Amino acid sequence: MTLVDSPNPDGSLSINDLDSLWMPFTANRAFKKRPRMIARAKDMYYYTPDGKEVMDATAGLWCVNAGHCRDPIVKAIQQQAAELDFAPTFQYGHPKAFELANQISLLTPDDLDHVFFAGSGSEGVDTALKISLAYHRVKGDAARTRLIGRERGYHGVGFGGISVGGMVNNRKHFGTMLSGVDHLPHTYNREEQAFTRGQPEWGGHLADELHRIAGLHDPSTIAAVIVEPMAGSTGVLPPPRGYLKRLREICDQYGILLIFDEVISAFGRLGFATAAERFGVTPDIMTFAKGVTSGTVPMGGVVVRKHIYDAFMNGPEHMIELFHGYTYSGHPLAAAAGLATLETYKSEGLFERARELEPRFADAAMSLKGSPHVEDIRTLGMTAAFDLTPSAAGAGERAFEAMERGFHEQGIMLRITGDTVAVTPPLIISETQIDELFGKLDTVFRTLT
Ligand SMILES: Cc1ncc(COP(=O)(O)O)c(C=O)c1O
Repeated sequence: MTLVDSPNPDGSLSINDLDSLWMPFTANRAFKKRPRMIARAKDMYYYTPDGKEVMDATAGLWCVNAGHCRDPIVKAIQQQAAELDFAPTFQYGHPKAFELANQISLLTPDDLDHVFFAGSGSEGVDTALKISLAYHRVKGDAARTRLIGRERGYHGVGFGGISVGGMVNNRKHFGTMLSGVDHLPHTYNREEQAFTRGQPEWGGHLADELHRIAGLHDPSTIAAVIVEPMAGSTGVLPPPRGYLKRLREICDQYGILLIFDEVISAFGRLGFATAAERFGVTPDIMTFAKGVTSGTVPMGGVVVRKHIYDAFMNGPEHMIELFHGYTYSGHPLAAAAGLATLETYKSEGLFERARELEPRFADAAMSLKGSPHVEDIRTLGMTAAFDLTPSAAGAGERAFEAMERGFHEQGIMLRITGDTVAVTPPLIISETQIDELFGKLDTVFRTLT
């Protein structure tokens, strides 16, 4: 077999050329019949190959918080590619990985001070789960092997992440996954919470379910609890008031580590550097990804508290302390992109901007109450979700139609999960663009069959 030149000298694709790519988390056959193709992007907009503007209402996949193709970030990546393309971070180092770790540790609360890099959110989650298990073992508490997740949680697609995750379609095809996992109940109850702006009043008590789970397995067998501070991919479920604080207290009572999966909530989405800061609850381990490079170069990781890092720094100094890592942990391009991204967040005050825009954004989202098919609306930070009544044609059909109509007819990119439409724009969105976004969304809902 051999590599060939592109069959089309102008680089364009014909429809048959779409066949080889098995697209991730995509209805492949529907996409290939009617592609939603993106060719370039700038600031708040994508552009199709024929130049049509598409508003990015989703920050890509919750990652492009600084907006698209921002000059300082682009330049930093270009310069880095020319200066140092790759260097191993196993037994060697390069300065920007250390510099970025320092910056991240300054953004995370309390003594969340030590950063371990991975290549994605899923790898960050696996890293967090493995560090939790290993931590108890190095402390001489090797019986703590159970991991507790939550129904409707999303923690990426590794076997660790789908085991503690709670989205049934992500789990049911993949066998028995990790053993020794249990789940807290999810926190959504439409009767109690419908059309809540911000955190619902109802549901804080659901954290007490951890007492029941601890009673069932005995607390001494539980290593860690992992939750998203705001469940995102399941359709945006803001934490009920008091819930996270209660979870923290119960974990402390039983010596269980608390992991916040902040892959989508960190770096400004909720108007703060982290959800932990917004909610005033500090986990033992925090995952991050996406917004750290504003989606430009893949990167993920975890931040751990001092006592966790210190527990590993024992034994002969020539010995590796944690047998874990990825070839691309702290990749030079990702590190350079991360530094330029954090600088952009700082110089443009984008976290504060998100905080200031939040009421305006929530008002605009809630103004769609009463639009056809809308059963519930939830908002938190620069995030909104709309539950649509499922159509008679089947679950997910109506939201799929909304995504298609949004792209082809209204020029807006939407994110769907089941029959929920989520809206999470880049944090550079202007007030006029907020009106444009929800105006388009309203039109989409009104044209649904
Ligand atoms: C909370 C959470 N954790 C983990 C992940 C997985 O990240 P990745 O797709 O980069 O592996 C995601 C992705 O959306 C996420 O929302």
